[in-house]
Amino acid sequence: MLPLQIKPDIYDVGVQDWAVRDFHGYKTERGATYNSYLLMDEKITLIDTVKAPFAEELLRNISQVTPLESVDYIVINHVEPDHSGAMPALAKACPNAKFIISMAGKNEAIQHYGDIFDFTVVKDGATLNIGKRNLTFAMMTMLHWPDNMATYCAEEKILFSNDAFGQHYATSKRFDDEVDQGELFYEAQKYFANILWPYAKLIGKALAKLGGLDIKLIAPSHGVIWRSGIADILACYGKWGQGVCDGSLVIAYDSMWGGTEKLARAIARGAQRAGIVVKVFKLSQTPNSTVAAELFTASGLLVGSPTLNSGMMPSMGSFLTYIKGLAPVGKKAASFGTFGWAGGAQKDMEEMLGKFVPEVLPGYQCKWTPQTVNLDAAEQFGYDFAQELLEKNQNSADCQC
Ligand code: FEO
Repeated sequence: MLPLQIKPDIYDVGVQDWAVRDFHGYKTERGATYNSYLLMDEKITLIDTVKAPFAEELLRNISQVTPLESVDYIVINHVEPDHSGAMPALAKACPNAKFIISMAGKNEAIQHYGDIFDFTVVKDGATLNIGKRNLTFAMMTMLHWPDNMATYCAEEKILFSNDAFGQHYATSKRFDDEVDQGELFYEAQKYFANILWPYAKLIGKALAKLGGLDIKLIAPSHGVIWRSGIADILACYGKWGQGVCDGSLVIAYDSMWGGTEKLARAIARGAQRAGIVVKVFKLSQTPNSTVAAELFTASGLLVGSPTLNSGMMPSMGSFLTYIKGLAPVGKKAASFGTFGWAGGAQKDMEEMLGKFVPEVLPGYQCKWTPQTVNLDAAEQFGYDFAQELLEKNQNSADCQC
């Protein structure tokens, strides 16, 4: 049985990873795919490989189209192991194949797998003729590692974009217009937030590089292939790269005996009554990456933790470490929480917030279980913080709320 042809003589030979729920800390609730494309031309060319545990499945998919020994080129757009894990298996199974790769990619691949490949290093703008088609390589440095590149086929008008425009979204349908649009764009945004946010300022340059290309398909290395929504996803990347916001407030908290949870609920009520969109997450029950996806477009962040052993709760430490790594910019932030005989959580949270927020606003805390007076004060705190956000949103050209 032949794999799907995304265009005549171009096969989808990658794999769906239905079971995966973790991608270096990013919780992939809809699984993932590792896309690989086989171009049948005078020179048979594979673009990208798959994660190591799926190497056998990749080889089987290729061999259903052509003998493995007939593969001439294997383009490695990115050496992160979700795309390069099958390289050693391919080197054995396809002894005649040259591995086409960037210089940074070559160095990374040797560090990962040893000097076992027949490499041809390509530079930005280089073109490889494979028969009826030509492949042009565009360096996409830091989207998402130093080695990243994209491969463009002018004759087919296909951009093989690797990580860019991907989604961690395992589906049996392979094109964007065959899946639920809400799910698709949610997963595309969540992917951008968790993978590309730290490099968002490079997106404009990358889009400018791709701007002159006639693109009819964007075939990324994760998720579905863009066919109908190309203009939409390019527009989203344009916005996301500039740090567009929706004006909302994210409240992320954890609680020991329910006191900080009561504060979180009161703060949310106050902010809601100010007319702002509020999204509330309990960190012990929500993956950091899910909150990150919402924080990505939010204007403000409030974090809440009680004091545990003179500091913030470990779940809050994990969350703030994760968010700091994503290097968000342009958010207003403050903290809240309860304490018993001595505080500590608020100091911890404010120190961590200060690593990625230019000015941490005054927070709110109370002793032991919040009483009516504390809940009233927390509601007011939420209302006042929301007013700050409304003012910020009015003054921000990037805010689309
Ligand atoms: Fe999908 Fe950066 O790897």
